[in-house]
Amino acid sequence: MDAHRRPLTDHTLPLIAGGYAWLPQRLRQSPDRTVPLRVMGRPALALRGPDAVKFFYDEHNIHRHGAIPEPVTGTLFGHGAVHTLDGAAHRRRKELFLPLLEADRITGVAEQVTAAWDEAVPGWAARSRVVLFDEAATVLTRGVCRWAGVPLEDGEAGSVAADLLAMIDGFATLGPRHWRARRARARQEARMARLIDDVRSGRGPAAAPGSLPARAAAHRDADGGLLTPHTAAVELLNVVRPTVAVSWFVAFAAHALHRWPGHRERLRDGDPAYATAFAHEVRRFYPFAPFLGGRAARDLTWRGHEVPAGGTVLLDVFGQNHDEDLWGDPYAFRPQRFLERPPERDELIPQGGSDPRTGHRCPGEGVTVGLLESLAVRLARLEYEVPDQDLRISLRRIPARVRSGFVVTDVHETG
Ligand code: HEM
Repeated sequence: MDAHRRPLTDHTLPLIAGGYAWLPQRLRQSPDRTVPLRVMGRPALALRGPDAVKFFYDEHNIHRHGAIPEPVTGTLFGHGAVHTLDGAAHRRRKELFLPLLEADRITGVAEQVTAAWDEAVPGWAARSRVVLFDEAATVLTRGVCRWAGVPLEDGEAGSVAADLLAMIDGFATLGPRHWRARRARARQEARMARLIDDVRSGRGPAAAPGSLPARAAAHRDADGGLLTPHTAAVELLNVVRPTVAVSWFVAFAAHALHRWPGHRERLRDGDPAYATAFAHEVRRFYPFAPFLGGRAARDLTWRGHEVPAGGTVLLDVFGQNHDEDLWGDPYAFRPQRFLERPPERDELIPQGGSDPRTGHRCPGEGVTVGLLESLAVRLARLEYEVPDQDLRISLRRIPARVRSGFVVTDVHETG
């Protein structure tokens, strides 16, 4: 018997509709940072903390297959994505993404994105107002497509960026945003699948050897077979889309520089350690991934709580990034904390925990930090006005975003 009573009421609705605060609040009230729940009719357990991360990422405990609801795979990740695989199938597919962990690839993405940013800024200066979130997305789309070797006409960067943003924006709702996300995914999957067909058949411009389309087209799964054009397209999008998701963090960085302008000076100075600390604090402090879900691979016990095989296990990502025991003053925006002590692997988990080579942790974390470091410095060096606008970030909306998109006017570059 479970040492702790499991509720009969289902928590799926409050978990989603309650936004970022609901799960962390429940866990905060629990002395062992563990809460039994019922999610989608099944017994569930929510956990947090570095030891919980190790437990969650142990494949003997948790599987991903069948853990991610269709509305999420149908918008955010794509059907058949690496996120949904386990064991040997996961490890083999993950090889497609592991080069992203290498320093030269991280620098390569950052160079292309910062070049696209530098090209865009004079155009911003000529306009009466600029929505930073949208412009950052266009810049990131141009940069990542150039880096990855994904063809993109100059005139289509804005519409592709809008589709990639929509796919992320609509995964946690069943309203109009969700249907926009599905249409956007269908368009971009079709486009990437055509690219894979072209690479395989030798039609169109040759994909550079080692480029992402060339690698996805030639990748073989654990069963020895090539990916279908659809699955290859899904995985191409699993690099391009989350890179463009960094625009959420760019808008959050602008928000932080506006609320606490003292950080601007230190970023402008170009101290790389401070830029890294700032990037980590943006990823820790601001809400993005709320929690992660997996399926119990067998009957499990965690701190005296049981969850049967097939039950749901939730890792409280946002709650862990704001856990008082880990951070002391979690609701203070304080990059300095990361200069005082670099984060342990399983403490700071905005992009998942454990080892990205063997588990599901985000292989794009280095790319994200690299992009945020360089774009935060560029943002700090940019002169602009912040007119009256709605800068609230609602914790009820998943994914959260600066409501106005962060509008700036009178943009000009400092030397
Ligand atoms: C997985 C967050 C940027 C590629 C993940 C996961 C999270 C995450 C929470 C799931 C971890 C898990 O299931 O255990 C983010 C955030 C980003 C970001 C917040 C920045 C805004 C990137 C970038 C790339 C990327 C830039 C690629 C260039 C992936 C892939 C996976 C993944 C391929 C699946 C890994 C697997 O299942 O093995 N990301 N990510 N992400 N991310 Fe990211």
